[in-house]
Amino acid sequence: MKADYLFRNATVIDGSGYAEYIADVAIKGDRIIRIAPTITEEAETVIDCTNLVLSPGFIDVHTHDDLIVVKRPEYVEKTSQGVTSIIVGNCGISAVCAVLKDEVPDPINLLGELDEFHYPDLASYRDKIDSVTPSVNVATLIGHTTLRNNCVDSLLEPANAANVKQMQQVLRKALEQGALGLSTGLSYGNAINSSTEEICALAELLAEFQGIYTTHMRTEYDGIIDAMQEAFHVGRHAKVPVQISHHKCAGAKNWGRTVETLALIEKYQQNQDINCDLYPYRAGSSNLDLKQVTEDYDILITWSTPHPDMAGKKLQEIAADWAVDVHEAASRLVPAGAIYFQMHEDDVRRVLQHASSMIGSDGLPCDPNPHPRLWGTFPRVLGYYSRDEKLFPLTTAVHKMTGMSAKRFALQDRGLIKEGHFADLVVFDPNKVNEAGTFQNPKQKAEGIEHVFVNGVLTYSQKQMTGKRSGRFLSKNNNVDPK
Ligand code: ZN
Ligand code: CU
Repeated sequence: MKADYLFRNATVIDGSGYAEYIADVAIKGDRIIRIAPTITEEAETVIDCTNLVLSPGFIDVHTHDDLIVVKRPEYVEKTSQGVTSIIVGNCGISAVCAVLKDEVPDPINLLGELDEFHYPDLASYRDKIDSVTPSVNVATLIGHTTLRNNCVDSLLEPANAANVKQMQQVLRKALEQGALGLSTGLSYGNAINSSTEEICALAELLAEFQGIYTTHMRTEYDGIIDAMQEAFHVGRHAKVPVQISHHKCAGAKNWGRTVETLALIEKYQQNQDINCDLYPYRAGSSNLDLKQVTEDYDILITWSTPHPDMAGKKLQEIAADWAVDVHEAASRLVPAGAIYFQMHEDDVRRVLQHASSMIGSDGLPCDPNPHPRLWGTFPRVLGYYSRDEKLFPLTTAVHKMTGMSAKRFALQDRGLIKEGHFADLVVFDPNKVNEAGTFQNPKQKAEGIEHVFVNGVLTYSQKQMTGKRSGRFLSKNNNVDPK
């Protein structure tokens, strides 16, 4: 059987976390068909991988790419990093199941414009993904704030029993249609008044589907321990795994406290299943939130509806120009986007190094001046943190973005280089791989990503999209079927 591609003499980092080895790897159709020290059979195309790493395609477990992959299926921001699968619907906001009226509530508006939301159920979104065939595979969580949007009268109030029942119906149907689980974004104004009981009532549905509960917790500032306790309570109540989204200790007062939070995770892990994800930067980004405005750390404005010319400037500078304090300046700028330098580098490193963490970009594709994580997350972990700063071996870095992630989110036959698995693959140069963007100039293709294959199709090569795409919708229950 003639292979489509033969990767010759590759340094295989297979995603399991175990040591690398040198091998030849053959793929045909959408699968890896053979791995051996030497493969002599013919192939349509032979790629010499001497001194290059062959790894599973990276899985971005935390994204807000729900609508961008429909609007712009040639999704270079992620494909150029070696990402082959993304999980959308994080932080309580999914485009799937959203039924909007005449405006897009915050922070659902991070995903796109009103006229882009056409997916009252998962099946309609799956059909859309299958018809546009993005450059990456797509799986989705269902957002709690999205459910609230559909079912409560006021997002500022707790849901009542009837609302909860209605939310459960929508969630159940989405789980039946292949959603991976439920996400919350409890720190956001439109979810913060929901009760723990409301979350529990929804999470209860997950166990039957082996779904996951992911949470942007109620706070990442001073009250973080209580917020973690709440998340763990939900997990225990519903008997489901908990994933803390973009784990961080935010605010100067809390710098250093990941010592405490990671110890708490370890303590509760003795009795329940807990993991976390993070992006490898000390700055976060979202809509400009007046609650997070402070003089304690730098805040970069990325866009502003009333003051578009302030994009790219520091809030402190804008405030000085206007001769007002930062709070007044921020209230004049909203609606706006911001990058908050709210973490300590030591905390970022501590979470990265922890055995429970995996990599998710949390990139915001609609931001005109995006946080560089959108283009650089995965190469930065491989190049900067693993190779240059030696936080962990490259095999660990790859594991945190492939095998570990696929297992966590039940992406069947992905995340490992293994015979029979899907040929989602990256060839990269371990000496060159790194992000190329900066906070000033974020929209840059990474260095050292040589070739990216999605379901056996060469999608990115020599720093260019090939024009061929092969991403699929990945359903929880049935994600091996091609269409
Ligand atoms: Zn979030
Ligand atoms: Cu997020």
